[in-house]
This record gives sequence, structure tokens and C-alpha cells, in this order.
Amino acid sequence: MSDLERVVPGSTGAESGLVERARDRLASLPLAGAAAAGYVRDRGGYFLNIAYPSMQAMETVIEEQIYPETDNGVDDSKSEGRNVALYVHVPFCSAECYYCHYYKEFKKPEDKVDSFLDGVESELETHESNLESINARSVYIGGGTPSYLTPDQMDRLFGIIKARVSIEDGAEVSFEMHPESSDEDRLAVLNAHGVNRINIGVESFDDRLLAAENRRHTRQQAIEALERARAAGFPNVNIDFIYGLKGQTIPIWEDTLNTIADLRPSSATLYYLRLKRGTPEYKLYAKYPEKFPTEEDLLTMHAMTFERLEGDLGYTQNPVDWFIRDPKYFHTYQDHNWRKSDETALLGIGPSAYSYMNGWQYYNVNDTDQYLAAVNQGKIPVWRGGKLEGDERMRRTIMLGIKMGMDRRNFQNTYGEDVVDAFPREWEALSDLGLVEVQPEAVVLTYKGKLLADEVGKTFYSEEMRQRMAQVDPHIVSTTWPQINK
Ligand SMILES: C[S@@+](CC[C@H](N)C(=O)[O-])C[C@H]1O[C@@H](n2cnc3c(N)ncnc32)[C@H](O)[C@@H]1O
Ligand code: SF4
Repeated sequence: MSDLERVVPGSTGAESGLVERARDRLASLPLAGAAAAGYVRDRGGYFLNIAYPSMQAMETVIEEQIYPETDNGVDDSKSEGRNVALYVHVPFCSAECYYCHYYKEFKKPEDKVDSFLDGVESELETHESNLESINARSVYIGGGTPSYLTPDQMDRLFGIIKARVSIEDGAEVSFEMHPESSDEDRLAVLNAHGVNRINIGVESFDDRLLAAENRRHTRQQAIEALERARAAGFPNVNIDFIYGLKGQTIPIWEDTLNTIADLRPSSATLYYLRLKRGTPEYKLYAKYPEKFPTEEDLLTMHAMTFERLEGDLGYTQNPVDWFIRDPKYFHTYQDHNWRKSDETALLGIGPSAYSYMNGWQYYNVNDTDQYLAAVNQGKIPVWRGGKLEGDERMRRTIMLGIKMGMDRRNFQNTYGEDVVDAFPREWEALSDLGLVEVQPEAVVLTYKGKLLADEVGKTFYSEEMRQRMAQVDPHIVSTTWPQINK
């Protein structure tokens, strides 16, 4: 049996109090009405709203479309783009985790990483000259695995960024680490450069499950990584988990939640497994769906997460998927990206990164060699994109903003129209289904709505974008998987 097919056996046993509470909560909702209206989560068609429109609905674009020169020679696109949430995608990992859909390359030598850093430098230089200046309100270095870089390369990356981007005082600066490369030398570099939020991928606290996903660390090593980061002076350490992995049972998920309770991280992200075409996990699911938790179990796990983290421990989910121990650990970068995207542009650097700037949603090419070929010629490595016209911008603002709650006054100030008046039919339907609550100052997801947040967001897809998506192979749902770029 291959590594990939080695799956932990499901454990059974008496139902715990937590499971009972979760099931009772679900039974009290009920979800049938929403399901009949098409609001269901299912792995096969799960659609994560992280950008609008989705990459599949976009056309190939070139740099000049995004940064047009006007007749009088003045680039009027410069004005909005300067205040940004900066994302840098580091596309390297030591090996492949079987569920992971992000764009990355494995085991690349140091000189390849150095070339990538040269590329980041060129790409930032091009943006700097287009925008005249770049002011970062928040920074997120993600991937891939940014801690794949050596301490010297990490130091160089921050040097490159700081030479071209002015980072606001007190801005949140996040850096992703894998437990296997979360040593003191790397943490010292992060400290020296003012990183104030670390994100560690843990995924599960079950050793068999970690091995079955090729995670390359144990439960104990993950705990040590968290403790090392705290001891190095980082109070804000977020840890990532996934529910829906093969062999993950309800008791295993409960144990993971209980371990989170023991460790009390400042925040934790608990993601629903996205099965993306091309990943080993997707292939395995197609062959052996019975080795994965059922949709019903996934719903129970989701409700268990709320019961344990919000109910027992006082964490708050905001935005969707992120549970924070205290409001001070609210993830500002994500707020800029989703709720404040009309005030703070998103500037994505690196292969597969996406940006939202001056009303343009665009995606960088997801191939490191093509990326380097473009940036080394002083070009922005755009691949697909589109300018949001008419009410498309509003739609995007709602689709992402609803994950944190829509501030009605902000929306009114931006668009000159109340968010409820802009889409009365949609809000009424969502409200009748018990998915959202329209309040005097805000529109927020109800508990039921939080269980189906991405589906609620999907309601706001325009007819044109729906049609474009329908023309695409429905299985191609990844925004970053490299094979679909060829
Ligand atoms: C770039 S990785 C985190 C840092 C580092 N590379 C690591 O794995 O430890 C970002 C996170 O995305 C999540 N993720 C990746 N693929 C996913 C999938 N298919 N479904 C849900 N979450 C996923 C995982 O929780 C992962 O920790
Ligand atoms: S989860 Fe992290 S380490 Fe694993 S393949 Fe994805 S980016 Fe790389």
C-alpha cells in the first residue's frame, strides 16, 4: 500500500458531551430550508470565496490594461493603489502535503530561491514606479512555506520589501512557518524585522493523520513550534487546522479541539478541506470516498468547533474560519483584504498571488519560471484579470465583507447607496432562510449563515459571472493549481 493510501482507521466510541451538544445545536436550526434553496456545503462543489470574480471567470490581461496611461500622460490609476495590504507568495516547500492546493515547488536549491528573491525585488520595483510609492497597512508573507528560506534569505526578503515599501507604524506583519523550519535562528530574523504575527501550519494533532498527509512533523513537534515562537517573544501565533482529512473521525477532531484548548493559541484557523483537482487528496477521495468523513460528520465537526472554541473557551470567530482569543488578535490583513477592500488595495507579489487594485482583480502567473521571465523584463507578471464595472464592485465588497459583517454606513459612504437597498431581493431571501440578520447598523451572518458563509457570498455573483463560471469545467475550481495555466 502506498503512503498515500495508508489511512488511519476510524475510531469509534461513546458520544461525548461535546458531540451531543454540537448535534443538538444543529438539530435546533434547522438547515433543511437552506438546503432546499441550494445552500449546502459539499466537498465536490465547494466554492471558496476569496476573490471576486474567481480566476476562472477572468480573461488574459496585460500590464498596460491595469496601469493605463491617459492621453495627457497622467496615470490616473496611481491614486488609489498606494495604500495596500501587501501579500508575498513564497512558492517553495520541502515536500508535498497531500491535501494542499496552493502553488508551490518542492526541494528547490538555494540558488533557485535566490532567483525568486531577485524576482520579488524586480516586481516590487515595477509596482513602485507605477504607483510612485507603496504604503503597506499590513503585510502577509505566505506560500508555500516562507520559512523554507534560510535565515539569510529571510533577512534579504525583508530588506527587499523595506527598501521599496513603507510599512505603517504598528502594522500587522505576518509570516508563515512550517513546524520543521520554525527554529530559533529564523525566529530571531523575524523578531529583528518587526514581524508581529506568526502563522504555523499544524493541521491536526493526530500523528497518524499527520503521517498520512505527509506533513513531516508530529503532534509534539507542532506543540514545540508554538512554544518556541512564544518563548522567542511572539504573543500572536496563529495555528492552522483542517477538518475533512482522510481518516479524520469525530473523536480525532475532538482531541484536536481539546489540545487547542490546552494550548490556548492567540488565534486558530479551522478550515473545511477544499478538495482541489490535481491534489493527491482529490484523487484519493475520487477512489475511496469512504475513507473520508461524511458531509454529516463534517457539519458536526464544524458545530463542535463553535461549541468548544466559542462556547467553552470564549474565542470569537471573526472572520469566518478564524477564531481569536482576544480582540487584539483580530487579523488586520484579512480585514483589509475582505472588509476594507474599498479603502485598502491588495497588492500580491510572487507567482500565483492575486491583487485587487483600482477596481482590477487580477492574478499573477502561477509558474515560477514564467513569473521570473516576466519580472526580469520589468513587467508585472499578470496572467488573468478583469476590471469590475457597474455593480460588480459592490458585489465583491459584499461577498467578501459578509464574512466579517457589512457596515451599512461604510457601504453607504463608498457607494452612495444602502447595502440592503442595493440588493433587496437577495437580502430578503437570505434573511427568510435565517442565514443573515439585517440590523440597523450592519448586516451579519447568523450562526446558520456562518456554517454556510461562502455559499451565502455566492448569492451575489452577477449573472454574467455565473455564466462565465458555468462555461468552465466545473471541476476546475482551483485558483492556483499550476496545471491549468498551461
Ligand atoms: C501555506 S500553508 C501554511 C504554512 C506552511 N506551508 C505549512 O504548511 O505549515 C497555509 C494553510 O492553508 C491550509 N490549506 C492548504 N490546503 C488546504 C486545503 N486543500 N483545504 C483547506 N485548507 C488548506 C492549511 O491549513 C495550511 O496550513
Ligand atoms: S500545506 Fe504548507 S508545507 Fe504543505 S504543501 Fe501546502 S504550503 Fe507546502
